Amino acid sequence: MTRLDFPEGFTWGAATAAYQIEGSPAADGRGPSIWDTFAHTPGLVANGDTGDVAADHYRRFPADVALMADLGLPAYRFSVSWPRIQPGGKGPANPAGLGHYARLVDELLSRGITPMLTLYHWDLPQELEDAGGWGARDTAFRFAEYADLVAARLGDRVPIWTTLNEPWCAAFLGYASGEHAPGRTDPALSLRAAHHLLLAHGLGASALRSALPAGTQVSITLNLCAVMPGATSAEATAAVRRIDGLGNRLFLDPLFRGHYPVDVRHDTGGLTDWSFVEDGDLEAISAPLDLLGINYYTPTLVDAGPPVAGPSPWPACADVRFVSQPGPATAMGWAIDAQGLRNVVHRVHEEYAPIPLMITENGAAFDDELGSDGGVRDHERISYLREHLAVVHEAIESGVDLRGYFVWSLLDNFEWAYGYSKRFGIVHVDYPTQRRVWKDSAHWYRQVISTNGIDT
Ligand code: FCB
Repeated sequence: MTRLDFPEGFTWGAATAAYQIEGSPAADGRGPSIWDTFAHTPGLVANGDTGDVAADHYRRFPADVALMADLGLPAYRFSVSWPRIQPGGKGPANPAGLGHYARLVDELLSRGITPMLTLYHWDLPQELEDAGGWGARDTAFRFAEYADLVAARLGDRVPIWTTLNEPWCAAFLGYASGEHAPGRTDPALSLRAAHHLLLAHGLGASALRSALPAGTQVSITLNLCAVMPGATSAEATAAVRRIDGLGNRLFLDPLFRGHYPVDVRHDTGGLTDWSFVEDGDLEAISAPLDLLGINYYTPTLVDAGPPVAGPSPWPACADVRFVSQPGPATAMGWAIDAQGLRNVVHRVHEEYAPIPLMITENGAAFDDELGSDGGVRDHERISYLREHLAVVHEAIESGVDLRGYFVWSLLDNFEWAYGYSKRFGIVHVDYPTQRRVWKDSAHWYRQVISTNGIDT
């Protein structure tokens, strides 16, 4: 057994997102979001599940924060639901909505837990979608106003702010494949959406800088792909370049180099002329950040194949084939391979700005069962987390400025199009009773936190 000690001050945390845990969709004047509409459309979410109740966290947050304190959790990453703050996505703040997050933040602080706040984890106010959603440039400006409203109220108490969670998913699952809200299947629109999300980030970050006290950290979280060739051929190498272009460089290049990748613009030239990029946009998007959040779950293996028709989250990539990696996988069917995390972290560190990094999501779904002894023996999840944490440790040792790790997720929750069928929590939620039960992974993580290290 090897002991891996993490540096002093390393941030241990757990992550959640508003729509996935809160429930209470009409409480305190909240307006509808695109996820309410999507989940209530028959056939779009497994089992017809919706976020109407979820983990009932909106009402149970004091008990959930107490649970975090029992875990010894130093930090908690959560998202604010935009339609709770501006029910229609514009105009003055709804005091009751802001008040909820102020109480959550105060509760966290009173327990010594650092709040890390994400402004957008996919729940766009429906009214903004009706006006064009992320396809409309105006949405980016509305986002900056929303950022300002939240910062004005919570800026004195929240030290780390994230503009967007995973803009790749919001743009391409939302507007190209239609697997996520708003369920559009228009590849040209999805590229516009990606740009407007990045513009929203840039304008939002600037609004945050003006409103937040000096020293407050501003970040974005990306789901970066560890893209690897599924075969040794020139075609597979070309497929890697294209998926890397759309999955990684489409976001990293504008954020850290101030331009879009030429090859991606070229590859997608048949869909759009990119005229949605206006003067000044890239300056706004590339303003310096304090931190980059990385979410990682599984590697992406690609090869070339005969063109496949039908909606895909990869515009202009109909002839790219996604290869499933043999070996162990999670209940999502996602291959378990911590090498991918190693690739992603080193790549960002070496090729992009030497910006501090945090793993803002990492974790695994398994078909957990509540045993007759009342426990959940999720040893596969513990192995998954341990393997990935060993990679985090190794990256730090080799000089990567990696400051923290947030397990996805604190609680079982509404896993988007999979509904409640996939359980990612380290704490089990019995949905009919809303009882929380610590899985073995929660007990294990508590130990990791309290000893600041892992045994491998
Ligand atoms: C990420 C999302 C998060 C969760 C995990 C499993 O893409 O950010 O909300 O669904 O995947």
